[in-house]
Amino acid sequence: MKKIIIFLCTVMLCFAVSGCTDSTHEHTVQSSSADIIENSANSGENIAAEDTRRENLGSAAALLSENNMEGVTDNSEASKILVAYFSLADEQYEVGVIEKGNTEIIAEIIAEKTGADMFRITADTNYPTTYESLLDISRQEKSNPPELAENVTNIADYGIVFIGYPIWWGDLPTIVKMFIESNDFSYKTVIPFCTHAGSGLSGTQSSVESLCMGAEIRDGLAVRGTTAQNDYDAAEKAVTDWLSELGIS
Ligand SMILES: Cc1cc2nc3c(=O)[nH]c(=O)nc-3n(C[C@H](O)[C@H](O)[C@H](O)COP(=O)(O)O)c2cc1C
Repeated sequence: MKKIIIFLCTVMLCFAVSGCTDSTHEHTVQSSSADIIENSANSGENIAAEDTRRENLGSAAALLSENNMEGVTDNSEASKILVAYFSLADEQYEVGVIEKGNTEIIAEIIAEKTGADMFRITADTNYPTTYESLLDISRQEKSNPPELAENVTNIADYGIVFIGYPIWWGDLPTIVKMFIESNDFSYKTVIPFCTHAGSGLSGTQSSVESLCMGAEIRDGLAVRGTTAQNDYDAAEKAVTDWLSELGIS
């Protein structure tokens, strides 16, 4: 009799445990299904949009990560490097009458170290050859912008674009803004550099950032005009150190 009672108790216990386990499992499954159904119902129309967004992000990331040069990104279809620069010779502040512009000297060093192509940004009008007249013209340009004399024809070939300019009135020269606005820098790596007479980059890093929509902007270089013009070794060292920090050499 005792054995029968123990057997019956064991059987009842098994049913009880099995019932509990099933109901717990059922609750979990039901609640997951409910979540999925609810989420699907709420975001059904967003699924296609989300898929597209992920595809776009995926291809942008792929473009930016291909051909990675020690931290500097470009894309495989656009693996060349360009140094685009604006620079004026003749009379310049602190350096007198010069044969080659200060920024052009830095542009040449960058091109030589990186194997980049060079493109000189020019306006459709000639700039005056005296510093005082240049001050006047550059002021007038702000409200009456010049046109580019020519544009880069193959910008799509370039994954990395250095953009060089003298600081004018604490800003980018208007013609450099025109050049940036006339090109599509999406998915490219853009790296600014300037020469100046004391202002450094003077906020132009952010100007370039806001003008080059969709580009990755790396830290720019500022070299004093007098250094570029009169101390080649120091200018070259500044460029070499900077390129090395960027991971390009
Ligand atoms: C119109 C004009 C405005 C300038 N404004 C500034 C300025 O705001 N801050 C500064 O540090 N240098 C200024 N400069 C000095 C130039 O940035 C500097 O001389 C530069 O190296 C010239 O380069 P480039 O020979 O390549 O044109 C100005 C020069 C000119 C002609």
